[in-house]
Amino acid sequence: MFSLRTIAISQRRLASRPQNLNALRFDKRAFSSTAAKTTSISDAIIKDHRELEQYYNEVINSNNHDHQQRFGNQFTWELARHSVGEELVVYPAFEKHMGAQGKEMADHDRKEHHRVKELLKEFQNMKAEDPAYVPKLKELWSVLSEHIKEEEEKDLPSLEQALSSASGQSESMAKSFGHTKAFVPSRSHPSAGENPPFETVMGLMTAPIDHLADLFRKFPDKTISPNPSTK
Ligand SMILES: [Fe+2]
Ligand SMILES: [Fe+2]
Repeated sequence: MFSLRTIAISQRRLASRPQNLNALRFDKRAFSSTAAKTTSISDAIIKDHRELEQYYNEVINSNNHDHQQRFGNQFTWELARHSVGEELVVYPAFEKHMGAQGKEMADHDRKEHHRVKELLKEFQNMKAEDPAYVPKLKELWSVLSEHIKEEEEKDLPSLEQALSSASGQSESMAKSFGHTKAFVPSRSHPSAGENPPFETVMGLMTAPIDHLADLFRKFPDKTISPNPSTK
């Protein structure tokens, strides 16, 4: 029988994006120059949000199907990992550190994630040649951008406030978030739900399959890796 450690190691290997070897070399340099900086959990989440917005814009502002497919795949890859990363690391922290208000925030955000995941599941199976490809992504983005706004303007500031009494807690949560993203699915699985530990178990089961299939998907050639430590 495989141990969890064996599964985790093989997932970490598969989590590397094969098409981006040059970018990975570039990342190492970028990473070493920023490694000394501490990153709060808000910084880490907001960085992902800006990258998602960039990938979205690459798809909707292009007429080239190959370009759209590559950035659409990149968008899916990042959003799937970002969402489950939040569900495993950030939303439980709302509940732990903010009592009833935190529980309400977490439940509300999980509901929004579910809607986004359903739309992502439809989008991730589409081809850029499909006339519905861009409209579907725009539909997804209209829900996601509202959710992102709430997280950035309301949820994350409340979390940082709650964490401010314990020095370094936000930074260590940012590290956990980065590491967790390496082990989670890179495609949308709305049927897995949004509540740990079920999501954790489903993640362990589906992530290796998703990561293996990523080897055969097209990604942008010059993508700068958002979290080099998780690639
Ligand atoms: Fe979220
Ligand atoms: Fe988010």
